[in-house]
Amino acid sequence: MAGKNRSKLSETTNISQLTGCIGAELTGFELDRLDKFDAAFIYKALLKHQVVFFRDQNFSPSSLVSFAKRFGRLETPHAGLRRLPRHPNLILVETKGGIGSAKYNEIWHSDGSFNFTPPKITVMQAIKLPNVGGDTLFASMYSAYNSLSKPIKKIIHKMEAFHDGVNAFRASFIDPDTKRAAVDGEDKLKRMQSDYPGAIHPVVIQHSETGRKALYVNRLFTTRILGLSDVESRNLLNLLFEHAEQSTFQVRWRWTKGDVVMWDNRCTMHFAAMDYGKKHRIMHRATIRD
Ligand code: SIN
Repeated sequence: MAGKNRSKLSETTNISQLTGCIGAELTGFELDRLDKFDAAFIYKALLKHQVVFFRDQNFSPSSLVSFAKRFGRLETPHAGLRRLPRHPNLILVETKGGIGSAKYNEIWHSDGSFNFTPPKITVMQAIKLPNVGGDTLFASMYSAYNSLSKPIKKIIHKMEAFHDGVNAFRASFIDPDTKRAAVDGEDKLKRMQSDYPGAIHPVVIQHSETGRKALYVNRLFTTRILGLSDVESRNLLNLLFEHAEQSTFQVRWRWTKGDVVMWDNRCTMHFAAMDYGKKHRIMHRATIRD
């Protein structure tokens, strides 16, 4: 029954699951023409599949902002990221000549885990792509947690870890040619150090909406487990990183221009493959507050 309070698109769209544990492609959507019921339908699919993909969206940066705002308030990007001129909430994710955001995005991470309250969702659109390569991989941290052995689950239960953003973004304050501080680099670094002193989070979190447990450590930002010696912390973290980065927990998205992806940072990590040499790749990205 097509009730008044129901997404019309939900009757025509197709949700195709992409792997056994993470990712779904939703077809039949024009994301700049959604009503609130359609947005609720998409959000429900996101909670279930953790990352959802939409092919070929004809979007301007303003439409991307409006779409992202349907799911919450947007974050202001930190000093280590580049903003889009005229769209201060949109992040320019750009790599050209082998230089740019690929430096830190080619390490598994969950966006902003170094925040006291990390962003719940990220939305990203492909603007310019190399002719081959530049895929993005996503990992299910629900599946990573579920498939840990009981003894390891017991060890990490109630542990907490420190997440550090400044160290991860250090390269973006340096000029790649001179290897010295970039223009404004020192100021930006200081601003980032005072705005983002890092954050402590449980190693296993419970998703605030689904109630499911997820492993919450990532190689880019998680630097230490509290209460352990250096050796213990480093080795336990490495074990968890290697475990969570196994291909069984992943989906890999091969972009075409205009594609939009939306992922839930509370239960996923992602990795941008830097396999396109000096070619040019541009994405626009927005993060949504929890
Ligand atoms: C990101 O890590 O947020 C961006 C991923 C990508 O560029 O594919």
